[in-house]
Amino acid sequence: MASVVSSKVEALGKRVVHFGDEMDFIPARIRQLLETDWVNADVRDCFLAKSEICRILRKNPADWEMLDIVYYGASPRDGVSLSRADHWLSGSLSGQALRDRLKVVSSWTARYITKALEVDGRLTVLDLGAGPAPYALEALKAIPDCSERLSWRCVDLDQLSLDEGEKRAREHGFERVLEFKNMDFLSSRNAPEADDPRADFGLLVGILCGMSPAEAVSCLQKIKMFFRPGAELIVPTLLNQAFEEDPQTFRVLCNVLGWQLKPKSLDEVREVFVTAGYIVNDIFSEREGGNGQYAIVHAAIPQP
Ligand SMILES: C[S@@+](CC[C@H](N)C(=O)[O-])C[C@H]1O[C@@H](n2cnc3c(N)ncnc32)[C@H](O)[C@@H]1O
Repeated sequence: MASVVSSKVEALGKRVVHFGDEMDFIPARIRQLLETDWVNADVRDCFLAKSEICRILRKNPADWEMLDIVYYGASPRDGVSLSRADHWLSGSLSGQALRDRLKVVSSWTARYITKALEVDGRLTVLDLGAGPAPYALEALKAIPDCSERLSWRCVDLDQLSLDEGEKRAREHGFERVLEFKNMDFLSSRNAPEADDPRADFGLLVGILCGMSPAEAVSCLQKIKMFFRPGAELIVPTLLNQAFEEDPQTFRVLCNVLGWQLKPKSLDEVREVFVTAGYIVNDIFSEREGGNGQYAIVHAAIPQP
């Protein structure tokens, strides 16, 4: 999906970004190169040698293990310890924004589901691109017992992340609520049959961040088929603010290692949802007081 080089990443590469003494775990020569001349194999090799986050990202930018390190401060792999470079990356404003996104979206979702269960009695949730279900696990911890009334389906292409999610669901006692399905939700081969039940509520987290506005519109239009008319979704997506306030982290992750993120303006985000035929109920931030790195969109599929 993100094969085209992101113009936002290209623009970030043209900026002069200052790297200070807090990065003394990187040789001074590499720090200097990072400021303007980051297209240098020595820079990339240095970060690949020093950071588990960078090694994971280089292999697969969508890998759940990278997010796990940022969310929980440790590698899920036995025997892998984190370096100072990893702590610098995950301790950055952008790492904090990811942790805040998890906290704010999962607690918002828990409140939404609790209220919806009170009103409707039952609810079906679809978590598209769920990884090992961090959002489901956090939200379910805050929802009063609901195993008979709530069904939460986690969908992902990556079987290893689904296996990990299943293991965590059992460990937390949520195996009767959570279900894991390996599926490409953008493939027309996976369109539901006419009489398949549609979901009442959806999460789409960490998916639109790597898409252009046109790709995001197409994605939002395609996933409508899984939801009933009137269903509501919560969808966080990366804003330009992220590159503005933390160019150091994104210089390493995007310019040096090649992560083709496509942050958007708030107006672009709103326009994407409206063009895709959604009602935008609200857009809020992962940061108290607003102006954070993510637009968290609460949207609805219109009733006919
Ligand atoms: C950045 S991760 C986000 C994981 C989780 N939602 C979170 O925010 O912690 C994106 C996930 O979406 C999955 N994914 C991307 N495109 C997909 C598709 N078309 N169908 C199913 N899964 C997809 C990837 O395999 C990956 O696990």
